[in-house]
Amino acid sequence: MAIVKLSVIGCGYLGAVHASCMADLGHEVVGIDVDAAKVAQLNAGEPPFHEPGLGEVLRRALDSGRLRFSTDMADAASARVHFVGVGTPQQQGSYAADLTYVDAAIDALVPHLHAGSDGPAVVAGKSTVPVGTAARLAEKIGDAGVLAWNPEFLREGFAVQDTVAPDRLVYGLPGDDAKAAVARDALDAVYASILERGTPRLTADYASAELVKVAANSFLATKISFINAMAEMCEVTGADVSFLAEAIGHDDRIGKKFLKAGIGFGGGCLPKDIRAFMARAGELGAEQSLTFLREVDSINLRRRQHVVNLTVHALEGRVPGKPVAVLGAAFKPHSDDIRDSPALDVASRLSGLGAKVRIVDPAAGPVLRRVRPDLDVRDSAHDAVAGAHVVLLLTEWPEFRDLDPVELGESVEHRTIIDGRNVLDSAAWRAAGWTYIGLGRP
Ligand code: UGA
Repeated sequence: MAIVKLSVIGCGYLGAVHASCMADLGHEVVGIDVDAAKVAQLNAGEPPFHEPGLGEVLRRALDSGRLRFSTDMADAASARVHFVGVGTPQQQGSYAADLTYVDAAIDALVPHLHAGSDGPAVVAGKSTVPVGTAARLAEKIGDAGVLAWNPEFLREGFAVQDTVAPDRLVYGLPGDDAKAAVARDALDAVYASILERGTPRLTADYASAELVKVAANSFLATKISFINAMAEMCEVTGADVSFLAEAIGHDDRIGKKFLKAGIGFGGGCLPKDIRAFMARAGELGAEQSLTFLREVDSINLRRRQHVVNLTVHALEGRVPGKPVAVLGAAFKPHSDDIRDSPALDVASRLSGLGAKVRIVDPAAGPVLRRVRPDLDVRDSAHDAVAGAHVVLLLTEWPEFRDLDPVELGESVEHRTIIDGRNVLDSAAWRAAGWTYIGLGRP
């Protein structure tokens, strides 16, 4: 495999993993980020966020001498391929994506793009952007380099595995055939060892590649909201949504994945991506094509209030001053990411109603203490549930799923558990004297 010199601009969840994995595959990589503290942490071999397996890959790559991190964009100058993986958060007060960081990254990078003996520099966009962004950025880059759009499909918690063994690679290429060949060949060289294993590689125009990403996330979000709408139907009929999901999932055309009903989806991707997609459709005069995503978003947000209502009901309407244990703060297990976390949203709403919320999360605890000093963050589930009038399981960490209902029952004030992720064995909890409340389950 030929070694390619790479830069990765933006060292967040996407960039730090991509830089580490690409260096581990054998390439020479410099990761660039404006955050000096993050760069120092990465250079010391410490991932700045919780991601299983990343620490090992990062340290192995640093030890090999093929990976380093810098705040200086000039350090990207000798690279042949430049990946851009900066954030595209939701704009304040609007559904649209904030492209400030993408534009700033490209503006800072362009003066450092140089052609080498093997051809012009290639810029590969990885951030999730509104359709049409790549074409605009290609204009900005002009003759300084060739732009490809190479969306990323990694899941937090499985980021290393998804980066080195993706389901597919997608390249959005320029319309000009010669430029397209340059971009395609450069990306093929970077991903040679992944492609050798038979990973599907799909090439298209910029717009199609940009749309693949938001279409995939919209489909996943729709699947989750679909099953949560079915959970609402189960709640009014006494049916069981877990049974329903399993039974429809046996049909290969539907499949079992992403049909777990509960408090809904969160994180830094699905919620903001469907909103940015709707905003972009509106700009393009195609608002109607995506109005269903508005419903997907509202079903999702309704689940959070539903859990709050169940809690208020369990407390017989007397919420102020009542100790409530919340198990989980991250938007999903195996992550410390609390961006748009349903668990944290529910905890905040209950706290706003005056409940004495004690929250615990195996990974997000330190982040919570830093950014949410108003919350009572505990170190263990046992500590959080002591004296609780109701316990809420909101992020399905294995250590919460495995809690012993008999033992836990001894330290609470009232044995009421709300299983916001439908992962507990309801019979075992009921047998231990608990009132078990699932979502969309009798
Ligand atoms: C998501 C996509 O799954 C990735 O493919 C994509 O690359 C990524 O966004 C991105 O755009 O960068 P991620 O945000 O890491 O990945 O998390 P998911 O595993 O998709 O979970 C999202 C949310 O849906 C979580 O809150 C999870 O608890 C919830 N979920 C998931 C359900 O409520 N039910 C399910 O059946 C599945």
